[in-house]
Amino acid sequence: MTTSTSIVLTEQDGPIGIVTLNRPKVLNALSPAMLEAICQALETLDANPDVRVIILTGGPRVFAAGADIKAMAEASPLDIVRMNTLGYWQRMQRINKPIIAAVSGYALGGGCELAMQCDLIVASETALFGQPEIKVGIMPGAGGTQRLAKAIGPYRAMEMVLTGEPITAREAHACGLVNRLVPVERYLDEAKELARTIAARPPIAVRLAREALRYGVETTLRDGLAVERRNFILLFDTHDQQEGMKAFLEKRKPEFKGE
Ligand code: CAA
Repeated sequence: MTTSTSIVLTEQDGPIGIVTLNRPKVLNALSPAMLEAICQALETLDANPDVRVIILTGGPRVFAAGADIKAMAEASPLDIVRMNTLGYWQRMQRINKPIIAAVSGYALGGGCELAMQCDLIVASETALFGQPEIKVGIMPGAGGTQRLAKAIGPYRAMEMVLTGEPITAREAHACGLVNRLVPVERYLDEAKELARTIAARPPIAVRLAREALRYGVETTLRDGLAVERRNFILLFDTHDQQEGMKAFLEKRKPEFKGE
């Protein structure tokens, strides 16, 4: 099934929902309309019980070249507040299903931040990750200074943010920003393969483990451990926990129901 708006395409492939940014003429620049379309697509797939994992992708040439500079060039601070782009990023953070970024070509500025907002990143060998905002007189404003430093360490992140120069997919893979690095012909298939593996796991356990992990990255170890313990205990009230353990002991494949 494929549905489309002009700027974002949504497709379902079994348990995988695929969201494709589709504004290639401006390299998928993230205008407020684009961010709204991405949020709507993600929220629709999040609400669809048949979808277990979401892939967010661009095209082979570009994932996204950042916030729309045209929409910001004449803006005052108040205009930026009124645009409320932060609201879109907060909506994305409320998605409950794992999101895999399948990145090829440019992932710059807000595009790099969009990839880092996802849970896993599969990249083609042609991908370029960067925070070039400094070159147009601003700085990352959608989590780049924080997530990049956590993902690759403060020194590498500082160099990227202060010089505005990107790193290659190979470098990003070496420093832990990219989960899987594959030739450009394979990046979407590789993301689907990873998505299918996760989709075969018990959905409630996936959701609660993901929630604990994401929470832990944002908070203190003590608070993160408390959420992990709560979610761990909760899983003992699911059918899938009983089925998973029983199947292991009976040496057969489990049948997970998402209950
Ligand atoms: N916003 C608006 N339009 C953009 C854009 C952006 N971020 N990036 C590219 N475009 C447009 C170009 O203006 C151009 O449009 P025209 O054909 O109408 O002139 C079209 O896309 C193609 O771009 P180029 O001709 O520049 O393509 P290129 O192959 O020569 O270069 C590039 C590609 C290196 C990615 C270059 O386009 C570029 O540097 N883009 C800007 C990247 C950037 O600075 N991103 C950060 C934005 S700020 C931000 O993201 C803030 C935040 O944290 C949320």
